[in-house]
Amino acid sequence: MSSVITIDHVSKSYGTCNAVSDLTLSLHAGEILGFLGANGAGKTTTIKMLLGFFSPDSGQISLFGHNPSDASTRQRVGFMPETAYYYPYLNIRELLSFYGGLCGMSSSLIRQRSEDLIARTGLDHAKKRLLKTYSKGMLQRAGIAQALLHDPDLLILDEPFTGLDPLARIQLRDLILELKTKGKTILFSSHELSEAELMCDRVAIMKNGKLVLAKPVKEVVCDGNTNLERIFLNVLQAP
Ligand SMILES: Nc1ncnc2c1ncn2[C@@H]1O[C@H](COP(=O)(O)OP(=O)(O)OP(=O)(O)O)[C@@H](O)[C@H]1O
Ligand SMILES: [Mg+2]
Repeated sequence: MSSVITIDHVSKSYGTCNAVSDLTLSLHAGEILGFLGANGAGKTTTIKMLLGFFSPDSGQISLFGHNPSDASTRQRVGFMPETAYYYPYLNIRELLSFYGGLCGMSSSLIRQRSEDLIARTGLDHAKKRLLKTYSKGMLQRAGIAQALLHDPDLLILDEPFTGLDPLARIQLRDLILELKTKGKTILFSSHELSEAELMCDRVAIMKNGKLVLAKPVKEVVCDGNTNLERIFLNVLQAP
């Protein structure tokens, strides 16, 4: 199986804070990984390195066998940030048109993909409104549409379920599972353990910058007496 993400002994500090310590993790094509851990565990820092926003202090990261900062690598990655700051005086179509242009997509393809994603993310009724009038969950939905616009092979979502209502959650879950059937690879960070349990092939749990568990979900919840929530608590409470 080919490795889409390879993280090899990666560490990153902010001053004296060791945000990520000696992390080794890989992700295969077509896999869904839930990246879990308490607040401040190092998930977003890892994601930022995966996107090439900054380099590790030590260790190596590759996406599709290449440097995450390469332009050709970036084109294959869709990213939804933890907190998005979109230009408030655009509507969703204009936002997607702007991002599609940055990705080098043709106007007709942008139009076609935008309409589809606006519908899939349940924003049809609000497509003429300025983003400044959107609620938190609506902005999350816009972020999902933006991340998927250029049909990326790898999707990296930083807490995509936060702020979504139950219907939007189900829609996002279905969308992610559909992308998997198309061979896409998905890494998402989350505090929603039930979502991770429902959708992921594998979960990775971070604690204080270190990877403390990386296992197939089936193995984590195999004996019927335990669930991901219980495992998460046990792992985080261990000394
Ligand atoms: N820009 C920064 N400057 C200094 N310290 C930072 C910075 N960004 C993150 N940190 C620290 O690095 C550690 C890891 O933070 P990170 O944002 O990666 O955690 P996280 O797992 O994404 O948490 P959350 O679930 O709250 O989003 C934390 O101790 C945090 O305080
Ligand atoms: Mg985070």
